[in-house]
Parts: sequence; C-alpha cells; structure tokens
Amino acid sequence: MRKKIVAGNWKMHLTLPEALELAGGLKADISIHENVEVIVAPSFPFLHPVCEILKGSSIGVAAQNMHWAESGAFTGEVSASMLLSVGVDKVILGHSERRRYFGENEEVLQKKIKVALNNDMQVIYCVGETLSDREAGIHFDIVQRQITDVLSGLSQAEWKHMVIAYEPVWAIGTGRTATPGQAQEMHKFIRQTVAETTGEEVAQGLRILYGGSVKPANAAEIFARPDVDGGLIGGASLKAEDFLSIIQAAK
Ligand code: PGA
Repeated sequence: MRKKIVAGNWKMHLTLPEALELAGGLKADISIHENVEVIVAPSFPFLHPVCEILKGSSIGVAAQNMHWAESGAFTGEVSASMLLSVGVDKVILGHSERRRYFGENEEVLQKKIKVALNNDMQVIYCVGETLSDREAGIHFDIVQRQITDVLSGLSQAEWKHMVIAYEPVWAIGTGRTATPGQAQEMHKFIRQTVAETTGEEVAQGLRILYGGSVKPANAAEIFARPDVDGGLIGGASLKAEDFLSIIQAAK
C-alpha cells in the first residue's frame, strides 16, 4: 500500500504573516494528517519560520527549487546544504514554471536531482505535457522522455527518495483539470515506464501525484484512481480550509 501524499505548492504567493497563519491553521487540525503525508512548499524566505511553526507536527516542508552546486559564486541561488540547515529535506524540481520561465532543461534537472539525492533529500519531480503536445498526440512520448532522460541513471536506493508529480501544463492554474481517466491513464503509463527501466519493485513503490487545478470538489474522484497517489496542489493550497478538505479526500 503506497501512502498518499498531498503537497501544497505555495509558489510566489503570501507574505510572512500570511504564510505563518496558513501553516498554523494546518497544524491546528492535526488529526487530519493520519494516513496521508502532508507537505507544504513555501517560498525561500518563509522556509525556516514555517519549519519552526510546524515543529511537532507531521507536516513536511519542501523547497520549490534548488541549485545544483553545493555552494559557490551563484548569486541569488540556494543550495541543498542551505535548505538542510534550516530543516528542509524535500524539494520540488522540474516544475513546468521552472522549465518554461527559467529555462530549466533535462541536463540541469539531472544535476539538481543528483545533488538532492546525494543529500538524502526527498524529490518531487514534475513532468507533464503542454496543450499542443496533447493535441499532437505526443503526450506519452513527452512524459516518457522527461522521465527516462532525467532519471534513468538513478539507483534503486535513490528511487526510494523520488516522488513523481504528473502535471499537465494545460491544467495548471487554468481551472481545467485532467479527467480522472486521463490522470489514471498517464499515471499508469508512468509506472509502466519506471517498471521497464528500473524494475517492478521500484515502480510499485513509487508515489505518483497528480497536479493541475485540483480542488476540494474534484480531489476525491482523482485520488480514487489506482495509480494516483495524491496530489500537488497550487491555488487551492493557499487556503487552509480548502487544503484540509483536499487532504481529507486523500484519506
Ligand atoms: P494549480 O497548480 O493547482 O494552481 O493548478 C498546481 C501546480 O502548479 O503545482
């Protein structure tokens, strides 16, 4: 049985007081976290205070990005050891917004993932096709390439730290969700791809999250699909009430 994950990607939203209020609100309703791994991903300046506020709860904290070098002259960047030193041992990598607006390509992502895994961090690696990919019927090829090009060198032990988030780009922040059937179809394909390249055991243990306009109203139906192991939630993770009801839907 794979434990479901519900992760909130706060993106470039909230001020410090708002972030603390949100984290505090999630922590207060602690009973809801049984049987579901809950993660929040605040922006860099809020990571440490959010970690502090969530101490003593089971809610994990992830960064939304990270640099591939351990340290050095990389103005504006943040390293794995910096994150670990403030209590953050998880990171989202390869989000489509990072790929699209910040030019992150397969080569960069491979390096980032390697560094995260060398530091025993949990990685939520995002994949997903654009609308034109889907319309051209190449969505399976695109997602397969995003997985094999970046993850094929990982050892079985490293895979234990990996989570994949399938986020069709056309569904992110658009209000347009993949149907539960479309999500299941792609998640099953991702699991098969991992089984072929890395083996059945790793594939069966891998958590694959769906992301893209998940809301309280559609979460349960999507999470009920056999290969959907939870969600990566953007907009709806910014309100404690909505995020908690999405967590509830994963139980
Ligand atoms: P959304 O974002 O839930 O606002 O569509 C999801 C994501 O980008 O992770």
